[in-house]
Amino acid sequence: MSHGAGPFAIRGGHGHPGLIHRFLDHLPFEATDPIVSLQEGSTPLVLAERISERVGTEVLLKIEGANPTGSFKDRGMCCAVTAAKREGAETVICASTGNTAASAAAYAARGGLRCAVLVPDGKIAAGKLAQALMHGARVIALRGNFDEALELVRELTKAHPIALVNSVNRYRLEGQKTAAMELVEELGTLDALCIPVGNAGNITAYWKGFGEVGQAPRMLGFQAEGAAPLVLGHRVEAPETVASAIRIGNPARWEEAMSAMTQSAGAIEAVTDEEILDAYRFLAAHEGVFCEPASAASVAGLLKYGAPDARRVACVLTGHGLKDPQTAMEQSGSVVPCEPQLAAVEAAVLG
Ligand code: F0G
Repeated sequence: MSHGAGPFAIRGGHGHPGLIHRFLDHLPFEATDPIVSLQEGSTPLVLAERISERVGTEVLLKIEGANPTGSFKDRGMCCAVTAAKREGAETVICASTGNTAASAAAYAARGGLRCAVLVPDGKIAAGKLAQALMHGARVIALRGNFDEALELVRELTKAHPIALVNSVNRYRLEGQKTAAMELVEELGTLDALCIPVGNAGNITAYWKGFGEVGQAPRMLGFQAEGAAPLVLGHRVEAPETVASAIRIGNPARWEEAMSAMTQSAGAIEAVTDEEILDAYRFLAAHEGVFCEPASAASVAGLLKYGAPDARRVACVLTGHGLKDPQTAMEQSGSVVPCEPQLAAVEAAVLG
C-alpha cells in the first residue's frame, strides 16, 4: 500500500499501515496521492516502572526511536515528502542537527527525489551522518550552526524550486501531530506530556494533535541549559549542549511553542547536560530503553521538575540511542579484555 499503484503495490495485510493511511481522516491527503511511506508511526508506548517510582506517578515512554530511520522525524517527513512529490518537486532540502537530514534522505530516496541537507560541520552524531550519506543525500557541512543553516536554506528555497522540508513546512507538523493522536487512542487521557524542545516543531505538532482529538494535557517542554532560548526569552547566539539534536538558539516555531505552553498551563524549562546524561544512562540501565541524549531531556525534566497533580505522564523519547554511538561509549563502562581460555573467561565473567 505504501507504493500506491505500482506493479508491486502491496494491498494490505503486510504489517501496520503507514501513518498517512492510518490517519487519513486527519491529514490533508487522499489515498490516491503518491504516498511515500516506510510504515512509520504506531510506535511503542511502554510503562517506565523505575521512573514512575521515582516521580511518584505513572510514567509512560513514547518510543519514537522505533520509527524507520530511528526518530520521530519520519512522521513529518512522510507527509512533507509526499506533499513535495504531489506538487511535482524534484528536490527536497533541509537544515538539520542530524535526524531531519537522515529522515529526509531516506524518504527522498524512497520517493525518487533528490535530497540536499545542510548540517553544522562536526556537530552531528555519527549515525545520522551515516544515514544521510547512505541514502544518497548531498550532505553539506556548514561552517556554522543550525540556526544559520536554517536561515540559508530558507533563502535558497525562495530563489529555487526546491521543497523545504524543515518543520516550517506545515506538512511536517501534520505528520508529527499523529503521535499525540496515538497517545490518546491508547490512553484515553493523560495529564502531562514531557518533550524535548529544539526548533519547537514537535511540541507545536503535539499540541495541534491533542487539540484535534479534544485533549489538553500540560505541555512540559525541556531545553538544554546551553541552548534554552525559550526559557531565557531571547535568542542564544552560540548554543552549546551534549544533546546535539537540540543545539538550537533561535527556534523557528518559537511563538507556537510558547502558546502551546500557555494554553495548556504547561511550562518550558531548562535541564543541564549533566541532568540529561543522568537520565540517558538511567533509561538505558534501568528501563532497557536506549534513546539519544536530546530525547532524555524529557525524562531529565520530569525528574527535575516533577509533574504537579499529574497522575499519568508521557515522555517522548524522540530518537534512538544508536544514532549517537560516540556519546554512548563515553557515558558507559568499558569492555573486559580476555584471552581465549576457560579460566580467563571464568575470571572475566565472574570477577
Ligand atoms: N529530539 C531529537 C532527537 C531531535 O532530533 C530534535 C530535533 C528534537 C528532539 C527537537 O524537536 O526541533 O521539533 O523541537 N531535531 C532537528 C533535526 C532540529 O534537524 O534533526 P524540535
